[in-house]
Amino acid sequence: MSRKPVVKKPDPETTGHEWDGIQEFNNPLPRWWLWTFYLTIVWGIGYTIAYPAWPMLTHATRGFIGTSTRDDVAAEIAAFDAANAPLEAKLVAADLGGIAADPELANFTRNAGAAVFRTNCATCHGAGAAGAKGYPNLLDNDWLWGGSIDDIVLTISHGIRNTTDADARYSQMPAFGKDGILERGQIEAVVEYVLSLSSAEHDAAKATEGLTVFADNCAACHGEDAKGMREQGAPNLVDAIWLYGGSRAAITESVMNARFGVMPAWADRLSEAEIRAVAAYVHQLGGGE
Ligand code: HEC
Ligand code: HEC
Repeated sequence: MSRKPVVKKPDPETTGHEWDGIQEFNNPLPRWWLWTFYLTIVWGIGYTIAYPAWPMLTHATRGFIGTSTRDDVAAEIAAFDAANAPLEAKLVAADLGGIAADPELANFTRNAGAAVFRTNCATCHGAGAAGAKGYPNLLDNDWLWGGSIDDIVLTISHGIRNTTDADARYSQMPAFGKDGILERGQIEAVVEYVLSLSSAEHDAAKATEGLTVFADNCAACHGEDAKGMREQGAPNLVDAIWLYGGSRAAITESVMNARFGVMPAWADRLSEAEIRAVAAYVHQLGGGE
């Protein structure tokens, strides 16, 4: 019986490191791997020279092939502006009432107006312009300050009760409870009267009592017939459309503490064309007046 001689492989080169009998070999890296590695270094350096890369104090190196995504965007915006310029000029010059008669202008106005609305107005008036408590619904034909195109342009340009625009629409309902103008009983009575106006459930005896309180204290702004007054921005109280709520509690709160809805002015933030576009957009949403 012959035994094959045991051929002992030569000991591989080690780094000399050994932990608990486990040695670290010093095999050379595969050549293909090494070359790929060097190539990525060369590529990386080339890339940072060609393209914007290294941050400097105020800006990054621009790269010698001169790409700039920022310039690309600016160029695209400029191209859009240039394309829209004639239509914007036309919109600024147009008679607001006549926009609908010019299909091209009407189409541009609707799209531009919707875009302005989404960006600037939807936060308060809602994406669909249906409003929320304290922020009027712009879809209906119930207007606080007026629904003609000129009224809407004025409201948007100068805003309402803001402190930044001297021409803002302004009025202030007194806080009848907080400032002690009316007694508790008078307030309860006038609230019942207001409830009765829109045929909500109410106490008829108190409502009759409230009629005189209303005539003396409220009619000056809300009108003898309580149908509101646009010069004051005072809401119609008979139509069951409520800015702040039509429950007994909400109406009591309105009379006790008064409300003070504020809308910013846009004349210094939007261009004339943008204001006209968004006004025309809102005008056609509300059916227009
Ligand atoms: C910060 C919130 C806010 C923003 C933003 C805002 N509004 Fe208003 N807007 C209001 C409030 C509050 C009122 C109601 C004020 C009041 O009680 O009289 C109002 C009222 C209006 C009215 C009057 C409605 C009526 O019945 O007469 C119009 C029109 C209007 N907004 C259009 C716009 C447009 C268009 C934009 C965007 C360019 C805009 N609003 C942005 C808060 C805002
Ligand atoms: C100086 C004018 C003025 C007087 C006087 C006044 N109001 Fe008002 N009232 C307003 C205005 C303006 C608003 C809208 C406030 C806002 O939008 O922030 C309003 C809002 C209201 C509302 C909220 C309506 C809604 O749609 O939510 C009620 C209710 C109301 N008033 C009842 C009364 C009653 C009752 C009196 C009398 C006791 C009275 N007001 C007197 C101007 C007046």
